[in-house]
Amino acid sequence: MKNILVTGGAGFIGSNFINNILEKRDDYFIVNLDKLTYAGNLDNLRQSENNKNYTFIKGDIANSELVNFIFEKYKIKYVVNFAAESHVDRSISGSQIFYTTNVIGTNVLLETAMKFKIEKFLQISTDEVYGSLGAEGLFTESTPLSPNSPYSSSKAAADMMAMAFYHTYGLPVVITRCSNNYGPYQFPEKLIPLMVINSLSNKKLPVYGDGLNVRDWIYVIDHNEAAELVLEKGKIGEVYNVGASNEMSNIEIIKLILRHLGKSEDLIQYVKDRLGHDRRYAIDSTKIQSELGWKPKYSFEQAIEKTIDWYVKDKVWWEKIISGEYLKYYANQYKM
Ligand code: NAD
Ligand code: DAU
Repeated sequence: MKNILVTGGAGFIGSNFINNILEKRDDYFIVNLDKLTYAGNLDNLRQSENNKNYTFIKGDIANSELVNFIFEKYKIKYVVNFAAESHVDRSISGSQIFYTTNVIGTNVLLETAMKFKIEKFLQISTDEVYGSLGAEGLFTESTPLSPNSPYSSSKAAADMMAMAFYHTYGLPVVITRCSNNYGPYQFPEKLIPLMVINSLSNKKLPVYGDGLNVRDWIYVIDHNEAAELVLEKGKIGEVYNVGASNEMSNIEIIKLILRHLGKSEDLIQYVKDRLGHDRRYAIDSTKIQSELGWKPKYSFEQAIEKTIDWYVKDKVWWEKIISGEYLKYYANQYKM
């Protein structure tokens, strides 16, 4: 059995990671440590909650005593650190919690991982640490880090700290840097779920600036399969970029959503731009493809339709979130 600590496993990517792994394998025991912030949602894990190879602990990765207790009790040998404050707009309105969780929290995990001599520490990072591209070029693993938002600067700090633990103490660290994910269970503050849900409710769709900023989209299961592969086969001390070579401007995505739902483009509303808005991200994932044999399995055309249809069908999931009912439920259950 491989005992893994997955942090942030009640969020969008982490919950898909846990559900996917438990569905197909029985050689992993997963401890999910999640603080259940506004973005954490145990409803995402209904299919896994009774699995004998899974347990959930509500708590903060920055709580050293708790993290030590977990490593000791569950004899943790692997860490996949998804836990983070992840939304750029929120980091612009208030940066402190981003540094507390993304930097101090990661430091606690790294220190504890060292103490318990673990076999691998996978730090889930982002392409945003590289900053913004012009019209040409791609981010490679040797692109200098040049983060522009409080969010991306906190993720870059965590990456540098993780690598420093590898170089100084020999901690077996690997890092993945992925592009924009889409799929089920994404909190409806992010572009795709927000636009789908607003369209379904006939609300305006707020497009920042000219709508021509470009993101490189990947289906969440493709990202998670890359993470699983890097956890098992990734070379210690290395960084792997993950992306599906699928660049789209925001306005193209929004129009595609409206078309798929049969809604009018009159819902589009251009609004004030995000401060410091990165213009373009695009990932070169040659390294993980050639060294580890990963490649994305989902085409954008199929997976985006599947994703939009999931939000249409699972209305109960997002209605509970936007009504605030779900936060109240967990507040009672966990006495927050
Ligand atoms: P998310 O916001 O949906 O989920 C984050 C999870 O972390 C939530 O469940 C939250 O409760 C938990 N959390 C927050 N602070 C915590 C703390 N102090 N202790 C324990 N748990 C805590 O985020 P996501 O989109 O699933 O992103 C997951 C990771 O992947 C992040 O590290 C993010 O930087 C990275 N990433 C995201 C994307 C993307 O497109 N969403 C792309 C590349 C990388
Ligand atoms: O690139 C990976 C990153 O992708 C992750 O590290 C982050 O955690 C994740 O949040 C995401 O960051 P972005 O800022 O790219 O994602 P977001 O969904 O917030 O915005 C995508 C684009 O859409 C961006 O150019 C801003 C624009 N946008 C977003 C929202 C929420 C709008 O035009 N209107 C909106 O209402």
